[in-house]
Amino acid sequence: MKRTGLFFLAMCACLMVGTPVRAIDMLPTFGDIDHIHLPALIVQHADGDQSLQLRAQDTTYVDNAQYKETVIATKDLVQPFYVTIHVRQWKAVPITETWYEISHAEKKPVRLQRFDSGYLPLENGDLYLVHLHGNWAGEAVPTVERLTRGIKTIRNSDGARNAHLDAPEVMISLDGQPQENSGRVLGAALCWSGNFEIRVAATDEKGFHFYAGIDPMASEYILSPKEVFTTPHLAYTCSNEGMGGVSRAFHRWARTCGMLHNGNATRSILLNSWEGIYFDITEERILAMMNDIAAFGGELFVMDDGWFGGKYQRNSDDAALGDWVVDTRKLPNGLDALTAAAKDRHIQFGIWIEPEAVNTRSELFEKHPEWALQERNRELKLGRGGTQLVLDMTNPKVQDFVFNLVDDLLTKHPEIAYIKWDANASIQNCGSTYLPRDKQSNLYIDYHLGLVKTLERIRAKYPNVVIQNCASGGGRANYGLMPYFDEFWVSDNNDALQRVYIQWGTSYFFPSNAMAQHIGGSPYLMTGRTTPIKFRCDVAMSGRLGMELQPAHMTETERAQCTTAFQDYKELRELIQLGNLYRLVSPYNDQYPMSNVKLPETQSVAALMYVSDTKDHAVLFAYGLSSFMKQASRRIRLAGLDPERTYTLTERNVRHGEQPCALDGKSFTGAHLMSVGLDIPLSTEYAIDYPSRIFELK
Ligand code: DGJ
Repeated sequence: MKRTGLFFLAMCACLMVGTPVRAIDMLPTFGDIDHIHLPALIVQHADGDQSLQLRAQDTTYVDNAQYKETVIATKDLVQPFYVTIHVRQWKAVPITETWYEISHAEKKPVRLQRFDSGYLPLENGDLYLVHLHGNWAGEAVPTVERLTRGIKTIRNSDGARNAHLDAPEVMISLDGQPQENSGRVLGAALCWSGNFEIRVAATDEKGFHFYAGIDPMASEYILSPKEVFTTPHLAYTCSNEGMGGVSRAFHRWARTCGMLHNGNATRSILLNSWEGIYFDITEERILAMMNDIAAFGGELFVMDDGWFGGKYQRNSDDAALGDWVVDTRKLPNGLDALTAAAKDRHIQFGIWIEPEAVNTRSELFEKHPEWALQERNRELKLGRGGTQLVLDMTNPKVQDFVFNLVDDLLTKHPEIAYIKWDANASIQNCGSTYLPRDKQSNLYIDYHLGLVKTLERIRAKYPNVVIQNCASGGGRANYGLMPYFDEFWVSDNNDALQRVYIQWGTSYFFPSNAMAQHIGGSPYLMTGRTTPIKFRCDVAMSGRLGMELQPAHMTETERAQCTTAFQDYKELRELIQLGNLYRLVSPYNDQYPMSNVKLPETQSVAALMYVSDTKDHAVLFAYGLSSFMKQASRRIRLAGLDPERTYTLTERNVRHGEQPCALDGKSFTGAHLMSVGLDIPLSTEYAIDYPSRIFELK
């Protein structure tokens, strides 16, 4: 992949040392812009002045093994108001990050009214925006639209999570309809977990202007003298290899530049208790589930919601959040008995928590009602279960409470290897008893700064515990939080067919070792859809594999298939979790043209593959999404291989009771596989619903 240089050159235009340039090319400010630009920074100074005319004072450079960084110190022409502009270019990955540090020495606080993280001038042309829209149980739907004159805004105002509804990552194709493996595409991610706003403005006929930052709605930030406000980073890349190139750059950046905790490590195969037993936790059931996951060859068991509670029991979602003591009515021998049992079975043990939340029906709320976010003199708006509230993470006492919850668990039970950190509520009560009255509008931002501060403390002490980021599914898949988490729960919707779509969109920005994908039950509880166990395994195997069902309800065939899947996955794990992703055939082909156009008489399929860095090893996943008798099969062209090399195919996770298909053992050159492709048998003489195949290529 080649960086076009387009953006960086534009940004560097104003970096000439010593020139008293306006910062408009990098940071258009209110009071210093023409009628074409929107301001990326608007402030009201302590004396009421609303203008900002930043001029470069000094430019310094950092050059180390990992990145080059340009740091431009600017000052307003009139006020003692300062912005330091940072532009960091990673060396091993074609990703640039920008952010601003804002401070002042005015006599009283300054009001920051808009404070984007970055601004990029884009050329005129046939530009298309790709953004991920979705919701609980239907995350990450790629939405593609042509950019027209005017302003297009993508934003999220949930308060606590920002990847349901609209997500803070977008792509912009500069060459017409976005293609998967060709064309120039800009990819950008705002590294922030709170409210955001991304705007693409074509305010005149000359070009497009891209802005991304924290959403200023109800968030005027009151900055005291000498305080420094650092905006979130905006990370971007421009690829000549289409959307796939953007994804690969972001995956590599996440893994190697500290944007995903332990990014280069592979993750374990686990069983999570939630969809198997929900709140009905008993020691007997947990031990039985541990037996099952160990028997399948799994490596980790995670006890989900329902294990805690004292005066209030956690039998449903309406009580006990905040009371992080083991419910000995359900688990008479405590967590020690469970961690010991896991050890006996040679698996690891993990546990669910929702640290930032409290139920009104809890001992914590009785003791500290002031710790919940609340609006002065107004009735509480209650979330999940009719009793859930969000704790005030701006309050250092609450930060300590959250830190201590994790610290206590891990100190008392050092065997806990994995934590699932959930967040199931938005900020509905936008008020804090901790923040002073004149800083209430800092809440939406200080909440996340407090959360990150707490996570930093946890990570400093516990760098090796695997922590899953969950927010009613994928509600917090964002690069504001992923540096502290090893993975995230992609969706609460575990229906294998819909997962093909959800995982597809999620992979636009997030690498496979971060994407928790679990084999669910069938018929699936949310959709009622019945899918074969082989399809469920194959769909889950394309990311971080796990299972989430009641193994006691599985048939012998299902158990045998899962055992094979786990065995094969272990052999392919490094390739799947750390390889380079090539999306080959989109499940969304009907809705917008990608690299392949689906013919009506052919089967609807989705296909993707991972290729090792050295291109000597690859794995291909192909899924049949519709099956009709005698339907024409679909030829799939591969990508990312070495054209000169010869690859031999081995079918993996072969359907229980069947022989590998005719392609097994066949050899082809990379050139053949990429230009001619493969006719993958995804139907038989008698059509099977949801057929799928996995091939290893060596
Ligand atoms: C929402 C999560 O997304 C689920 O996986 C599960 O952990 C529940 N919360 C538990 O309450």
